[in-house]
Amino acid sequence: MNEQNLEPLKRHPEGRALRAEVDLGRIARNLDRIRAAAGGRGIWGVVKANAYGHGAVPVGRALEEAGVHGLAVSNLEEGLELRRGGIECPILVLGGLRPEALPAASAENLTIALVGPEHLDDYARLLPQHPVRLHLKLDTGMGRFGLLPSELGEHLPQLQRLSPWLEGAMAHFATADDPDPGFAQRQRRVFDACLAQLADAGIHPTQRHHGNSDACLRGLLDQDTHARPGLALYGLTLLAEGHVLGLEPALELVAEVARVKAMPAGTTVGYGRTFVAPHPLQIATLTCGYADGYRRDLGNRGVVGFRGRTFPVVGRISMDYLTVALPLDVPVVPGEPMTLYSSDPAAPHSLERLAQVLGTIPYELTCALHRRITRRFSP
Ligand SMILES: Cc1ncc(COP(=O)(O)O)c(C=O)c1O
Repeated sequence: MNEQNLEPLKRHPEGRALRAEVDLGRIARNLDRIRAAAGGRGIWGVVKANAYGHGAVPVGRALEEAGVHGLAVSNLEEGLELRRGGIECPILVLGGLRPEALPAASAENLTIALVGPEHLDDYARLLPQHPVRLHLKLDTGMGRFGLLPSELGEHLPQLQRLSPWLEGAMAHFATADDPDPGFAQRQRRVFDACLAQLADAGIHPTQRHHGNSDACLRGLLDQDTHARPGLALYGLTLLAEGHVLGLEPALELVAEVARVKAMPAGTTVGYGRTFVAPHPLQIATLTCGYADGYRRDLGNRGVVGFRGRTFPVVGRISMDYLTVALPLDVPVVPGEPMTLYSSDPAAPHSLERLAQVLGTIPYELTCALHRRITRRFSP
């Protein structure tokens, strides 16, 4: 594992020109709201991809203190990062694990999703010396990971051998955000049939879970004992139900103004000269670019917040910089902060609104926030 990739770049304290401000209190409150929406079920808080860009260890600690059942990550490295950060609650590795990595996972008490039939014999051989808890993933309609229902029968003998370690059974909804619950209900029926087949073979996992954020908000949890929300913990949602619940976005992206220039009409800005000043104005240059995860296609489309107003991002986004146009009468000096992503869901530069402008989802914007951005956490 390359540890350097996991460490945020250390910046000089005076050099913090670009920072993600993460409000951990909001994440804890969002957890409370989602847990209530999930009828008090145990929550596996999904913190993969550096907690959707928010910072895995601080977010993981906040969720642990706020009483999650456990945390879910994508791979072994992400699980080890949390353990190194002092997190002690259960950690579920959603993407599975090659058998060679079982000793490392066992030493750190990780819980592993069993995502396919190929390594069942290796697991049965290794688990007595290197025990981990297992959650059997069933592919009930997502078409990615998991044993297909049609495969279950032939693998029951192997699963019986793994039974002492099989703590959970899980699946993933493909359409939890769809107002029509038809396909989710079909997935659940398939899941229930698989669980009945397991029970007939004497395999009784004590946990069962499907539900991502949307499934929690939509009440699709049915007989599940646990849920696995991610996005909603960060206060982001595309569902009206999420706004009714009062989820609070936890992240703001703030850049300090590096330079300000007054420009005459006709001046062009940036690569390709895609912006031409229609009248005299000021151009503020911010030290945030597509290398930080700010999408290049927000050039001439995005807005930033400053002194209670919003101003347009003009010209192309560069690797490390972007440029904002302000009228000449707006006082602005280098060092002043401008907000690139607002935590006010109604603001035109909220993550949800910018994602809509880009035709994408907020996940993509937060997950793209590079580790070189300083994260500042408030309790
Ligand atoms: C297997 C699994 N469970 C749960 C989640 C959490 O989903 P969401 O962030 O939509 O709540 C994800 C996210 O991608 C996932 O892959």
